[in-house]
Amino acid sequence: MKTAALFSTAAALMATVAACTTQLSVNPRLISYNIRLATNNPGAAEPRWRDRLPALLSQLNYETAARPESLVCMQEVVPTQLADVAAGLGRDWNHVGVGRDDGKNCGEFSPIFYRPDTWDMLANTTYWLSPTPDVPGSRGWDAALPRIVTVAHLRHIKSGLPFVYMCTHFDHVGQVARVESARLLVRLARKYARSTSSSTGASEADATPVFLGGDLNIRPDNPAYLEMIAPGHYHDVRHVVGESRIHGHFYTFTGFHAGNPPQSSLSRIDHIFVWRKEARNMDLLTYGVVENRFDDGLWISDHRAVVVDVNFQVTKECEPRAEL
Ligand SMILES: *[C@@H]1O[C@H](CO)[C@@H](O)[C@H](O)[C@H]1NC(C)=O
Repeated sequence: MKTAALFSTAAALMATVAACTTQLSVNPRLISYNIRLATNNPGAAEPRWRDRLPALLSQLNYETAARPESLVCMQEVVPTQLADVAAGLGRDWNHVGVGRDDGKNCGEFSPIFYRPDTWDMLANTTYWLSPTPDVPGSRGWDAALPRIVTVAHLRHIKSGLPFVYMCTHFDHVGQVARVESARLLVRLARKYARSTSSSTGASEADATPVFLGGDLNIRPDNPAYLEMIAPGHYHDVRHVVGESRIHGHFYTFTGFHAGNPPQSSLSRIDHIFVWRKEARNMDLLTYGVVENRFDDGLWISDHRAVVVDVNFQVTKECEPRAEL
């Protein structure tokens, strides 16, 4: 008798627990920033890396403070700069990505910085933008240099939300390479959008949100850009947030100049794309292109950062409790 009564109480409790869900708000801030490689031969108006670094760190801190869900993608990061930025951001941050020359520590990185107290890194992979994406150092088509995309496959710890952020830097010379690189990135987005993170029990219908940030070295009229935004492919976040949610500059490349950059040197070549803007109760909140030079006249980089805020409403089932 006693046992039966206990069972029915347990069953009632289980039913209550199963019906319980909570709504969690997740607010990633995505940044893409070509920080300009550290060179021993800077141009006349180009500040030294050691002078740019403190301003870069201040800006990154300003953009990400109290936003632990921030994900920062950078380009042109040589090993000494990677060490400087990692040390400067401090222990709350970790990063993924490898050098593009050898898949280890040689050449420029396109790293992604994230906070391990907020995100689990499920997997991180580097693909070379070439017909042999798995071969470290491989140069694609008519490209002048080996080029990569760093893929961070994450899971938001508190909510279980899976998330993919990719970080890339297209070739500055090879037009065939840029079109083929865009095709490769479309294939990768398809693949990662289908991936699910097992512990959330997500179904195929709950596609993983995929974002891509990078210096694509192409303007919006380039066929490689048009491949990126072809129907069924990515959206440029700038085009889908809504007018009142676009902030700051239009151009993302300025160069280094003694005074204001001439109009002829400006271009919009850094972009943040979203793969399926309909997925996962996603709301694109803002798109901005922020300053790379303030009143002190110091150029932080020859590019400006692109900053995108996204919101996800995640419905999470309560943890089954064993407190009978
Ligand atoms: C990224 O991937 C490499 C290679 O699989 C692995 O050694 C490294 O631990 C991963 N980093 C993180 C933060 O998961």
